[in-house]
Amino acid sequence: MKTQVGIIGAGPSGLLLSQILHLHGIRSVVLERRSRDYVLSRIRAGVLEQGFTDMLRAAQVGARMDREGQIHEGFDIAFGGKRHRIDLAALTGGKTVMVYGQTEVQRDLFAARDAMGGTIITEAEDVTPHDVAGAAPYLTYRKDGSEGRIDCEFVAGCDGFHGVSRKAIPESVLKNFERVYPFGWLGILSETAPVSDELIYMNHERGFALASLRSANLSRYYIQSAAEEDLAQWPDERFWEEFRRRLPAEAAAKLVTGPSVEKSVAPLRSFVCEPMRYGRLFLAGDAAHIVPPTGAKGLNLAASDIHFLSRGLIDYFRKGDESGLQRYSEKALARIWKAERFSWWMTHLLHVFPENAGFGERIQRAELEYLVSSRAALTSLAENYVGLPFE
Ligand code: FAD
Ligand code: PHB
Repeated sequence: MKTQVGIIGAGPSGLLLSQILHLHGIRSVVLERRSRDYVLSRIRAGVLEQGFTDMLRAAQVGARMDREGQIHEGFDIAFGGKRHRIDLAALTGGKTVMVYGQTEVQRDLFAARDAMGGTIITEAEDVTPHDVAGAAPYLTYRKDGSEGRIDCEFVAGCDGFHGVSRKAIPESVLKNFERVYPFGWLGILSETAPVSDELIYMNHERGFALASLRSANLSRYYIQSAAEEDLAQWPDERFWEEFRRRLPAEAAAKLVTGPSVEKSVAPLRSFVCEPMRYGRLFLAGDAAHIVPPTGAKGLNLAASDIHFLSRGLIDYFRKGDESGLQRYSEKALARIWKAERFSWWMTHLLHVFPENAGFGERIQRAELEYLVSSRAALTSLAENYVGLPFE
């Protein structure tokens, strides 16, 4: 098979890229290791920046999000048993975020690609990029026991942190930057009314907690846990008890509990690789960087990468202008590092770090108290949370 852009991974990065390219008359093929059902069963991010929602609308995949998503004008930070509202709209001149699950974004992207005749090959095993440093790269894979080959002009590595694309860049070229945190997030999804209409990020002596939501009857709650928890040790009752203890009292009194419909643990990590381009291979999204979920930036960063990459590819195929592709890595990384800094800062602001007992705890409390008392500090938090500009 021959195409213009071979895309590895049908996560949000890969599907959004394929959709945008299609709307500009550029052909692509997406190779995905998992089944579609598996991809659609993953529960991940829930907060979308305005820049991302604008991109989804422009890519003709925003209609259901606009009907079913919730616009949030603020969220709460709780510490010392008290809630403090962060008024995003007032602090940013009217900017807001959209609460709409990544799973739904995936569903909308698959539907759009199907409707427009897009080629997505799922359950593709051993996907391997070849000759990406040369003029004629290609991808090989196995499906149902037979070998496949896709010749393309460019390869987009959108295959997440554990994918193969990053590994195709020689070690002598690639530089990795990493911080692993000494904890994880244990999360549940439950078909119960959310404890609050807006998100509550909680700093508590027993550990961080987050009350988030997907809809009026679907709650997403997290607690700081060990990086690797045995889920068998966490029956629902234990989760609810621990979560309730970290909620401010008036919220705890309103908590509705019920059976979990999903439960998982995610380790927290900051990671960036540089550069994001090697020859005709371009990395995007989690394939190139990871943030701890505290700032709700992972999915949004994947979208801004696709903004820069799709622009570069469109200019190349439309006008023969290579400058966007040449500057892709530099432009994407400039924004990524700012989101890395914000996610790292918010993680430090809100979690219990075992090594921080004593002095570190007092500094953390002082930072929280300063934050909620200073319009300058709140403005900085709000402008990062709603998302920094793409350019
Ligand atoms: P992915 O969504 O990881 O998609 C990559 C795709 O490539 C996958 O479908 C994968 O199956 C496929 N793939 C992998 N290897 C291969 C291969 N060899 N060949 C072919 N296909 C391959 N962000 C937040 O903002 N908030 C959250 O609460 C949050 N929770 C998360 C929980 C977990 C467990 C994880 C892993 C991430 C979470 N994130 C969260 C981050 C956010 O979901 C990601 O940043 C986002 O999914 C990145 O999109 P992506 O398309 O770049 O990568
Ligand atoms: C979520 O709803 O899953 C969510 C929301 C905000 C975050 C992280 C995760 O910062």
